[in-house]
Amino acid sequence: MNPPAILFVCLGNICRSPTAEAVFRRYSQQAGLSCIIDSAGTGAWHIGEPPDIRSVDYGTQRGYDFSGQAARKVIKSDFSRFDYILAMDSRNLSDLRDLCPPGYSGHLSRFLDFAPKAAAQDVPDPYYGGADGFQTVIGLIEMASSGLIHHLQRSHPD
Ligand code: 4NP
Repeated sequence: MNPPAILFVCLGNICRSPTAEAVFRRYSQQAGLSCIIDSAGTGAWHIGEPPDIRSVDYGTQRGYDFSGQAARKVIKSDFSRFDYILAMDSRNLSDLRDLCPPGYSGHLSRFLDFAPKAAAQDVPDPYYGGADGFQTVIGLIEMASSGLIHHLQRSHPD
């Protein structure tokens, strides 16, 4: 079976989805799961930029690696390339549904659907807020990453 291809999506692709990419990359390596992992934004403001320094600082403190990431926008061919397209919040999901071609047979949902015990369904946008917002983002993303690992271990056994 091909390794599952997973795309994390937020608005700017500089805070939440790059964090999800970095966290999930480490979780999948630790679980010995081979995956294709990428992230993108529904907005175009930050195309080509590295992740927000605040996300990188908090993420690096927890041992995650953000190297090589640059923001990009979601494109139509993502729907044929990725088995899982996981939105950080309901607005991102609604924007993705608008972009989604009718034949898409992959899995399109909010990332926190994989964290049913989390206190939230959306990973809140931390961009205009303070430090605690970035810590909340990492905590929620870690919960959902664990849930997604368990889901993939059941649905994509080696
Ligand atoms: P993200 O956060 O969607 O988690 O990357 C944002 C980054 C930039 C903007 C909004 C949200 N912005 O409006 O520029």
